[in-house]
Amino acid sequence: MPAKVDMDKIVSLCKRRGFVFPSSEIYGGLASCWDYGPMGVELKRNVRDAWWKAVVHERDDVVGLDTSIMMHPRVWVASGHVDGFTDPLVECKSCHLRWRADELEKQRCPQCDGELTEPRMFNLMFKTFMGPVEEEASTVYLRPETAQGIFVNFENVITTSRKKLPMGIAQTGKSFRNEITTGNFIFRTREFEQLELEYFVKPGTDGEWFDYWVKERFDWYVKLGIRKGNLRLRQHRKDELAHYAKACYDIDYLFPMGWSELEGIANRGDFDLTQHAKSSGKELSYYDAEANEKYVPYVIEPAAGVDRSVLAFLIDAYDEEEVEGEKRTVVRLHSALAPIKVAVLPLSRNEKLTPMAKAVYRQLCPSLVTDYDDSQSIGRRYRRQDEIGTPFCVTVDFESLEDKQVTIRDRDSLAQIRVPIDELNKILEAKLKGEAFDASSLWATRQK
Ligand code: GAP
Repeated sequence: MPAKVDMDKIVSLCKRRGFVFPSSEIYGGLASCWDYGPMGVELKRNVRDAWWKAVVHERDDVVGLDTSIMMHPRVWVASGHVDGFTDPLVECKSCHLRWRADELEKQRCPQCDGELTEPRMFNLMFKTFMGPVEEEASTVYLRPETAQGIFVNFENVITTSRKKLPMGIAQTGKSFRNEITTGNFIFRTREFEQLELEYFVKPGTDGEWFDYWVKERFDWYVKLGIRKGNLRLRQHRKDELAHYAKACYDIDYLFPMGWSELEGIANRGDFDLTQHAKSSGKELSYYDAEANEKYVPYVIEPAAGVDRSVLAFLIDAYDEEEVEGEKRTVVRLHSALAPIKVAVLPLSRNEKLTPMAKAVYRQLCPSLVTDYDDSQSIGRRYRRQDEIGTPFCVTVDFESLEDKQVTIRDRDSLAQIRVPIDELNKILEAKLKGEAFDASSLWATRQK
């Protein structure tokens, strides 16, 4: 990675290669809203799937859930969001721009140096109306976190999943916050997607589970390719803890604008279950058969964001290098995250090559996300695949027609091997899994 990746380069790559577009662009865009293009939607899905695999499928103590975005309004009173989910807002008396008071370095407008109003608390929840009547009684909120859908279903899940504590419930989905200041591309937006786990434990064991999840989650980013040196753990000071948290660590990433939160891991104690039990009148406790005791579980919550993770993975993977006197931009995404795993590129669009290249494409498609591209020069097509992070390109040339072999080009080393078409799937699948495949004798020379 170049010493410092500039956000403009990432925004430009995302637009140019179909990762992220400004929302409603033909109407001039909508502030802080973004659309994921063909590459972005695959990357985002891969991030979400990698999280689900690590947090749900590879464990026997976590189950999934998918709850509605609109919930009973009393949920947000009980959770403390109606009263407490606020930021201090100030407005410039000259240019009328609004700012978060706690983020300002001086008490003047950063835009025009105008005088600011006194701070007032601004609730970040989006309100809307359910049904055809716009009146107070029909007000509902768009959820500002997915977590509450998990807490209000605690009893349903415990009963139906037959899990014993410690156990977790995971959910991914959209959340909405009417943030006062947005920015830094997809880092802070008003509509975003979360990856949340609520891990329920016996009170008294929460400290060790908190440490366990901080480590698990830190290691997840490292396993998926983020450099350790670009990650750090930061403990929240008492005065910055959320209203529900007993303790919290952020996993920060070194974004172009500086160290910023990628994920938070909080010890929520028994705050949420206790609040919902009081407010709904339903008992939300757990009967521990082994110890023959009943208690309200404590909750450890690792809460990440899909969009922020996508941004961090792209930034960390972005690289520029010189190859034979030319600049090469390459996005070295982990193969599990790469939107396209393999691209089939006939040397040229030629009536003899096309049928074989299409047959290779069809052979790979069912098991690997495969792209087919026969337009422009082979060099330009390699550049495009490098920029979208495709780990392997398969080239079909005139020799292939004779020897039924194709060339695999490795994105990172640029090394090439010639392999029989019959063995292509097996070789690519092994390489994508990072398994050692003894093809050393097949590697040819490094080529642009
Ligand atoms: N349930 C706890 C919770 O929501 P949070 O720290 O407010 O905690 C968790 O949010 C994660 O959600 C953040 O670490 C971040 O990745 C993502 N996130 C929060 N607000 C966001 C925003 N406005 N835009 C993009 N991502 C956001």
